[in-house]
Amino acid sequence: MAHQPQIVIITGGARGIGFGIGQCFAQRGASLIIADINLEAAQKAAAKLNTEGAKGSIGVVCDVSDRQSVEAMAGQAVAHFGCIDVLINNAGICPFIDIMEITPKQWQRTLDINLTGSFHCTQVVAGKMLELGTKGRIVFITSLSENFTGPSQGDYAASKSGARMLMRSFSTRLGREGIRCNAVAPGMILTDMTKHHWGKPEPAKMIENRCPEGRIGTPVDIGRACVYLTSDEAEYVNGITLTVDGGYTIGTG
Ligand SMILES: NC(=O)c1ccc[n+]([C@@H]2O[C@H](COP(=O)([O-])OP(=O)(O)OC[C@H]3O[C@@H](n4cnc5c(N)ncnc54)[C@H](O)[C@@H]3O)[C@@H](O)[C@H]2O)c1
Repeated sequence: MAHQPQIVIITGGARGIGFGIGQCFAQRGASLIIADINLEAAQKAAAKLNTEGAKGSIGVVCDVSDRQSVEAMAGQAVAHFGCIDVLINNAGICPFIDIMEITPKQWQRTLDINLTGSFHCTQVVAGKMLELGTKGRIVFITSLSENFTGPSQGDYAASKSGARMLMRSFSTRLGREGIRCNAVAPGMILTDMTKHHWGKPEPAKMIENRCPEGRIGTPVDIGRACVYLTSDEAEYVNGITLTVDGGYTIGTG
């Protein structure tokens, strides 16, 4: 049987897609480091995941936009578990502000969390993997906004298309050392981030109509893709974005 990764860091794993990813790894008996800006929520999520099959998971505070916070989180993970097999760069924000209205500060915050946060986490965690000789796996949670955008997604799309190229750059650097980097681009997934948009009856209907799968996505849909990309079954898969949108982008409604 293929080796399944055991020690898994999920940034922004306290809720939403990150938590759903945690559930998928929990089902496979992994030990999770739920690294979230909200410590209490991270600890609760880790405890819940331990009841769903995860082993000894912990919740730790981490602001991915803050280098020192990321270094402390990765140090804690290694001190506690001895190694890190998988990093899921999931933490992100999407403020939905018109590109003509967004302030420079708001713009910078989106870039700091979604793009620079993934840079900090990958550089720091991959550094630990190299030190410890771990054949690690790293997944970036990007978005359909890698390629598509709109008036209220200028900051978000810039951060996510940047994250795609960041992932590819790390992939070229780390591949020969046995560390694979890939991305998952979720379609419309119902979470706290999006419930005020996709959760309303009209957009929800539009998504159901346009998506060949006939439904909005769930965090677990994204988690399953992360499990695949970090497994030995994906041994020769490196530097790709796996779109998981139920066919939304090919649908015409
Ligand atoms: N929901 C969707 O439809 C959708 C679609 C495409 C991509 N995504 C991406 O998936 C990821 C998760 O989205 P979600 O819908 O679950 O969002 P969410 O808002 O429900 O959850 C985000 C989590 O990230 C944490 N977080 C926020 N800022 C942080 C920081 N600076 N450091 C550490 N943790 C932080 C939050 O506390 C929260 O637990 C994001 O990167 C998002 O861009 C979501």
